[in-house]
Amino acid sequence: MSSKILELNKVSKIYGNLKALADINLSVNAGDWLSIMGPSGSGKTTMINIIGCMDTPSTGSVILDGVDISKENAANLTRIRRDKIGLIFQQFHLISYLTAVENVMVAQYYHSMPDESEALEALSKVGLADRANHLPAQLSGGEQQRVCIARALINSPQILLGDEPTGNLDEENEGIVVDIFRRLHDEGVTIIIVTHDPEVGDVAQRKIILEHGRVIDDIDQSATFCKTDGQALKLKAK
Ligand SMILES: Nc1ncnc2c1ncn2[C@@H]1O[C@H](COP(=O)(O)OP(=O)(O)OP(=O)(O)O)[C@@H](O)[C@H]1O
Ligand SMILES: [Mg+2]
Repeated sequence: MSSKILELNKVSKIYGNLKALADINLSVNAGDWLSIMGPSGSGKTTMINIIGCMDTPSTGSVILDGVDISKENAANLTRIRRDKIGLIFQQFHLISYLTAVENVMVAQYYHSMPDESEALEALSKVGLADRANHLPAQLSGGEQQRVCIARALINSPQILLGDEPTGNLDEENEGIVVDIFRRLHDEGVTIIIVTHDPEVGDVAQRKIILEHGRVIDDIDQSATFCKTDGQALKLKAK
């Protein structure tokens, strides 16, 4: 039986008289792959920020790997995020004057100790061994996003969170990135990806639809979900 890795209980986030999230209940099994979709302003980023320990809810509880993170202070949230979470964003946030391998090593520095061979291994996992000494400006958008994935994986996170991680990529690079997610999922990583792209949303086992801060649909896609080969998927990495 799968264990729960994440549980949101009546989570709300209130800004003035706006409820960015309104009484969200969500339970996620370890190893699941979820996509989160919904119109602009529906609360997707707010929800990812709370799950990723970058923000706290106004009310409700968030149980991450058995710990209620909704009331933790900033220092504890930073530690929990460092130990359990990998984050990928639409914008790459790479340091422009550092090479690919150095950008990954910065993440190691915050987690434990910089280790170049480990950083190179992370880059080769995303197919970038031969680009390790390139600066971000010398890499394509798809390659930069793969550096970000390598950076997110450096702490071996239990949960990988993405806020529109393929938003800046063309179809081919989108396929490559989704294929990396698929491999990570096979290794047991829980994956939660916010996306506007229906094809990326369809790849997941489960699709959560938000509207006005509420979950309006929770779609089981396990029947079409395909773990390792791309047969049931429209996306194909070259
Ligand atoms: N710090 C803030 N202060 C006030 N309102 C905020 C703040 N952050 C988000 N909001 C509001 O909360 C709502 C949800 O925002 P959120 O960024 O979560 O939407 P989203 O679903 O990620 O949208 P998009 O698809 O455009 O990224 C929006 O109406 C937004 O304006
Ligand atoms: Mg957003």
